[in-house]
Amino acid sequence: MPEPAAWWRQAVVYQIYPRSFADANGDGIGDLPGITSRVGYLRELGVDAVWLSPFYPSALADGGYDVDDHRAVDPKIGTLAQFDEMVAALKAAGIRLIVDIVPNHTSDRHEWFRAALAAAPGSPERDRYVFRRGEGPHGERPPSDWTAAFGGPAWEPVGDGQWYLHMFAPEQPDLNWDNQEVREDFLRTLRFWADRGVDGFRVDVANALAKDLTPPLPSQAELDAEDLPDGVHRLLDRDEVHEIYKGWRELFDRYDPPRTAVAEAWVRSAHRRARYASPEGLGQAFNFDLLLASWDAGDFRKIIEENLALARSAGTSSTWVFSNHDVVRHATRFALPSGTDLDEWLLGNGTNPPADAERGLRRARAATLLALALPGSTYLYQGEELGLPEVADLPPEALQDPTWTRSDGTRKGRDGSRVPLPWTTAGPSFGFGPGPAHLPQPAGFGELSVERQEADETSTLALYRRALAERRRLQTDEGLEWADAPPDVVEFSRANGWTCITNFGETPVPLPRGRLVLSSTPLPGSVLPGDTTAWLEVD
Ligand code: GLC
Ligand code: CA
Repeated sequence: MPEPAAWWRQAVVYQIYPRSFADANGDGIGDLPGITSRVGYLRELGVDAVWLSPFYPSALADGGYDVDDHRAVDPKIGTLAQFDEMVAALKAAGIRLIVDIVPNHTSDRHEWFRAALAAAPGSPERDRYVFRRGEGPHGERPPSDWTAAFGGPAWEPVGDGQWYLHMFAPEQPDLNWDNQEVREDFLRTLRFWADRGVDGFRVDVANALAKDLTPPLPSQAELDAEDLPDGVHRLLDRDEVHEIYKGWRELFDRYDPPRTAVAEAWVRSAHRRARYASPEGLGQAFNFDLLLASWDAGDFRKIIEENLALARSAGTSSTWVFSNHDVVRHATRFALPSGTDLDEWLLGNGTNPPADAERGLRRARAATLLALALPGSTYLYQGEELGLPEVADLPPEALQDPTWTRSDGTRKGRDGSRVPLPWTTAGPSFGFGPGPAHLPQPAGFGELSVERQEADETSTLALYRRALAERRRLQTDEGLEWADAPPDVVEFSRANGWTCITNFGETPVPLPRGRLVLSSTPLPGSVLPGDTTAWLEVD
């Protein structure tokens, strides 16, 4: 097993989206005491760490990624004392904690932003954000035609000829990372949580902090055209961003064990991503390549090879992810024909094309077993261990994601992956809490509940538990060796004799030699059917 200092290199990390995990006090919103009450569940699942999505005070204009105060707990979901209790309970169960940190922007309710609005153009208060004068004699037109990620313009006027930049919702003004105070305050935030026993940080939109706003500002079309493979973009993935993380790394390394970090950086090429993951930088970065891949043996193999090689040359370990709070759940993605436009599909309430739920779940289970057998760390998203599908038919009035309104109802957004978890077969919110949940759960959720799956040894939950337990025994820091396999099959072995084979096709294939450890669906004899993964062990 790796040294404790590098515990993260081969870790299984479970993402908790706190407002949808477990609601202890019955107000419909998941909370920190809810998490604490489920630590036993996490221990039994066998995860090494939890990644906690934002739990800071927030008006929830973007699910908590609009942070009012980076060094406090949202009173709607708990107190700092309850945070400490949660950390203690996780620690006692041997589970580490990574917290989400949101450095690109604050919320518009942050005291800095209020001060900026109250202060004059050109003031130090405004310099912490990205204010620019608008075009036209009175600054009545935006400084550029840039669009925000959720839709609509990326600039908002403040009434005195100035506009502020928001790459996301208007409630999320971008910080100015050229400002020393911003830099120092973030170091303080990192120390604040690290001193409280947090083991690491997930860095939100890590590729956007450094920006070049030297006039003239390019148009959106020019901006898009600037998105060259060498990374010269005005707003994204600029080389200077790594200077910031160098400073963070110095801080992390002053702790024992050093604090870890993982970058969320949707960059164009895997090569650019490797820089975020270097030991002088954040240490690790999410690799979304498998999350974007369709169910294809050749694509999977190519992605795995490339990322293992990149991680090795960057001096880190790779990460593997299929689902998170921003994307359609993978049990559903794999249920749809490859190439399906997921935004369109959600707009049609998940009816066109119809999802083959059984096939999707079968493939999702096979995909997860494959990823868990790879060198590197695997990030799981709450509910995938239950095989939860995307909830595609949420009614418009229930939607909370700013994408829905900002895109004028042309994109439904991400709520379908954020529906509160079903813990029991019955109850007002299937055991999520004593009352109804903040997002409606589908009637069939009880059938997918923890309670139901705990009683069924063929369930997805049972599979995850067994897989994580076996992985704990088998995972090594060593690389892998590919086996010669037919085009629809991916097969590899680890140095200790652990073999993993996945059949992406429809025709059953012979099983390799070895003792069967586990399979993603029951095997009919000594062959591996389509859409199935098996683990074997050779002594
Ligand atoms: C990240 C988060 C996403 C959020 C965005 C803005 O991509 O994962 O949920 O909306 O950043 O903070
Ligand atoms: Ca609650």
